[in-house]
Amino acid sequence: MTDRPLRDAVHFFGRFLKSPGSVGAVLPSSRFLARELVGDLSSLRPGDAVVEYGPGTGAITRRIAEVLPEGVRYLGIELEQSFVRRLQQRFPKLGFHHGSVADVEEILAAEGLPRPSRIVSGLPFASLPRAVQEAVVDGTARTLAVGGEFRTFQYVHAWPLTTAKRFRAAMDARFSRFTRHGPIVRNVPPAFVLVYGN
Ligand SMILES: C[S@@+](CC[C@H](N)C(=O)[O-])C[C@H]1O[C@@H](n2cnc3c(N)ncnc32)[C@H](O)[C@@H]1O
Repeated sequence: MTDRPLRDAVHFFGRFLKSPGSVGAVLPSSRFLARELVGDLSSLRPGDAVVEYGPGTGAITRRIAEVLPEGVRYLGIELEQSFVRRLQQRFPKLGFHHGSVADVEEILAAEGLPRPSRIVSGLPFASLPRAVQEAVVDGTARTLAVGGEFRTFQYVHAWPLTTAKRFRAAMDARFSRFTRHGPIVRNVPPAFVLVYGN
């Protein structure tokens, strides 16, 4: 481990202790989960947009930055101000917005972004308050471009939870395509990747 992942892990864990519900994990995602979660961006064209929900310390952002095609716009929406500051320093070419994904439509309008072709989410849906979960699901369904993809993950141990089932049922009601990948066992803890399309 180089010192950056270690510093990220320490900072992340500190924020988890302060806000366990919204941070929702004790460690940043692994590169194995990041790779599967981001998937293939090569079909995106200049002018398209990729939006990341809850980039945290940038574990998934780093993978997006590696494969983001030239001319495709990126916006990360993050609730924790201290994470936003670190993300801006670490990824100066990418755009970040300090706010809640529950307001995704207003945020995209304010940032002048088109409907995103890809939304990649690191939000801990199962531990979010019900009102936030519903606002994010509705906002995402209205926002995703036609033919776009919404990709998120759920920890294997959280899969049977009532809140996780409620999230999947709400998504099933709004999206016509669904596939599940994994589990990604080299992530701590192991996680499934869920892909929804319209
Ligand atoms: C499980 S962590 C994932 C962080 C990072 N994407 C990763 O995979 O390591 C969840 C992140 O979502 C953020 N978050 C939680 N609720 C949010 C909301 N309503 N809007 C934006 N970000 C939120 C948290 O602050 C945290 O950074």
